[in-house]
Amino acid sequence: MAKKVVLGIESTCDETGVAVVRGDELLGQCTATSMDQFERYGGIIPEIASRAHLESFLPTLDQALQDAGVTLDEVDALAVAAGPGLVGSLTVGICAAKTLSATLGLPLYGVNHVIGHLAVDALVDGPFPERFIGLVASGGHSNLLLIEDIALSVRELGGTLDDAAGEAFDKVGRLLGLPYPGGPHVDRLARQGEPDAITFPRGLAHAKDRYPYDFSFSGLKTAVGRYLAANPLPEEDREDDREQAVANICRAFSESVNDSLTAKAVQAAKDFDCPTIVVGGGFAANSRLRELLVERADQAGVEVRFPPMKLCTDNGAQIAALGSALAEAGAPPSPMDFGPRTAMDLSQTYVA
Ligand code: KG4
Ligand code: ZN
Repeated sequence: MAKKVVLGIESTCDETGVAVVRGDELLGQCTATSMDQFERYGGIIPEIASRAHLESFLPTLDQALQDAGVTLDEVDALAVAAGPGLVGSLTVGICAAKTLSATLGLPLYGVNHVIGHLAVDALVDGPFPERFIGLVASGGHSNLLLIEDIALSVRELGGTLDDAAGEAFDKVGRLLGLPYPGGPHVDRLARQGEPDAITFPRGLAHAKDRYPYDFSFSGLKTAVGRYLAANPLPEEDREDDREQAVANICRAFSESVNDSLTAKAVQAAKDFDCPTIVVGGGFAANSRLRELLVERADQAGVEVRFPPMKLCTDNGAQIAALGSALAEAGAPPSPMDFGPRTAMDLSQTYVA
């Protein structure tokens, strides 16, 4: 039987994404972002993000259909991010999806955006193994999941007790006076830092039994703040010394975050006898995460799959990919009365 054509819509935060897939094949996509409007605020302003979705939706839809070379008549099913995310942003995507569903008479899946960050990997690396560990790391999430079926069986093993990995990078970036979002800057500078110049603590290091698969990064951020208070950065006129001092802090900080993420992901793969770890979310861009996870997973005989960068940050393909998995599994569509789920349980792959 021919695979279904699924159109996915993503509007959880600052990206408006639309994509079209057929089975595991990405036919086309388009993403617009309002991130450039937030640099001066140092954070996302939900009201501005919602308005940007409203303006971007139709052009993004048109562009994605054109990129895919399909018309709306050829679409078999729709998927939209139901949550978790910002309520105003989610509402725009959900209203658009319901309008398309009602006018075209198409089934609609309201899917979990976080699970989508992993589902998207099937579009590039092929079908998933029977069971695998998912590591989702982004500005809003840091979670370890045990997945037996991306559409129907996802179990949350653990997650951050406070800040997400990307959020912690952004906050430390701010402490160091780097532009928003700080994550990529901290990552770049960390590579120039001297090894072992500074050591920061590992979150939950003393609570491994109680929190085997959880993370905590806010104490680490405080440790960076304390270090800066005790060791002020060299003045601006000593540019090279200042840059090296910042780089050393970034390196030690990045080492701490990535040590926790990778050690626990590999431990979960061993504990649950999983041959594969799939990584997703914007933080998957982090160069040290990629390096250290592959190194540690290799040692444990575990394979690591990373989607390409373009598919790690929020996009329509992650939503279409999960919608497609649901359609292939024969899951019944979501009821038409579902609303935005600002918090959505990770074991819930979609609104059933
Ligand atoms: O998944 P995403 O696009 O948005 C959310 O859903 O949160 O992730 C964005 C987050 C931001 O916190 C950003 O600073 C972080 O991912 N990020 C990075 C890197 N690239 C993006 N953090 C560390 N290193 C990077 N190279
Ligand atoms: Zn995301």
